[in-house]
Amino acid sequence: MKILITGSDGYVGWPLIITLAKKYNHKKVKIVGIDNLLRRRLVGKVRAHSAVKISSFDERKKFLKKLNKNVSMQKLDASDYKKINNLVKKYKFDYIINLAAQPSAPYSFLGINETNFTQNNNNQILRNFIWSINNNNLSKKCKLVHTTTTGVYGFPKIKIPEGFLKKGREKYPFGFMAGSWYHMSKCNDVNNLFLSNRVFKTQYHDFRTAIVIGLNYDAYDASDKLNYNTRFDYDYYFGVVVNRFISMALKKQDLTIYGKGLQKKPFISLNDCVKSLVNFINLKNAKKFEVYNQYTHMVSIKEISKLILKSKLVSKNVKFKNIKNPRIENETHKMRMENKNFTKILKSKAEPLRDTIFKTISLLKVNKAKFKTKFGK
Ligand SMILES: NC(=O)c1ccc[n+]([C@@H]2O[C@H](COP(=O)([O-])OP(=O)(O)OC[C@H]3O[C@@H](n4cnc5c(N)ncnc54)[C@H](O)[C@@H]3O)[C@@H](O)[C@H]2O)c1
Repeated sequence: MKILITGSDGYVGWPLIITLAKKYNHKKVKIVGIDNLLRRRLVGKVRAHSAVKISSFDERKKFLKKLNKNVSMQKLDASDYKKINNLVKKYKFDYIINLAAQPSAPYSFLGINETNFTQNNNNQILRNFIWSINNNNLSKKCKLVHTTTTGVYGFPKIKIPEGFLKKGREKYPFGFMAGSWYHMSKCNDVNNLFLSNRVFKTQYHDFRTAIVIGLNYDAYDASDKLNYNTRFDYDYYFGVVVNRFISMALKKQDLTIYGKGLQKKPFISLNDCVKSLVNFINLKNAKKFEVYNQYTHMVSIKEISKLILKSKLVSKNVKFKNIKNPRIENETHKMRMENKNFTKILKSKAEPLRDTIFKTISLLKVNKAKFKTKFGK
């Protein structure tokens, strides 16, 4: 079996490739990771940093080889068709897990160049895989796993189905109400995936990933913290609000909730996110194409703030306060979303949010996390 992971140097990709390297330590399984270090560059460009120290790309390459000699990682730009096609032609992958993307909505709003870059990069990467699978006659063999986002659904009032709206026997791809240029790049992906299945018979598996939170304590070994750590961003551009609130709490600052903070959004722990992608490999009876709403909890930021404040490692003096909402949004919107397909893949019970928050805070402490970036723009 041959597996390609794109974006293997990223927040999700790094614990994923470590977990696969440990699970498939066998010469019959070849695992290839690729990344062009975009995330590291862009975080540097906005003058931010990961709160926990992570090893360099070269150190990570060496570390992977030590874990499993059938795993390799290389610097490669996935938006370059020739390079991708050569790789696909050489390995004839059974699975391509495509995580590579520019994933920040605020970054995609910086200006026309950032919007163009985000959409060109993200959409081109996916199109390259669709075409190279087709051009190498791999449609029957290769499963293309692609992480889009629950953000493609926007905030509708209906219960969100798992990827398709059904009318009688017909089903139509659903996911086009995004609220940012980045999220819109994933809407384009949704449509391109559906088209590729119709015209090229591409077997695709679209994971509509929710907001991923926490650190990778499952794929972790305290004897080698630096190499096991995945990144933890908490800045305005690359940190999700939960990470920002955790970092505020650890800096003994009050958590500032915009407005009422009661709108419910979908979340998943990094552990469950990785676990479900690992489970997908070798899944028996996988359909030719499918969508999975990859979330486990639908909660409000107010509920999450309360959990953060319950951690024994957070000072009792830290509180949360509701501040004037600078955004125009429905502050009490209760999103509802199906995830039947996804729970079948996750198999186990979802990790309780309380565990995700507490274990993450504890790992940040163990790693002496540093929070040097300002939270604002
Ligand atoms: N983390 C989340 O909360 C979340 C939520 C929804 C969807 N997703 C999606 O999941 C995937 C992984 O997200 P993440 O949080 O790990 O992001 P990340 O930025 O940490 O990882 C993506 C990796 O892809 C690499 N990359 C980008 N463009 C590339 C290119 N042209 N060639 C090669 N490598 C390239 C980056 O350097 C980075 O290491 C992304 O597709 C993202 O859109 C993530």
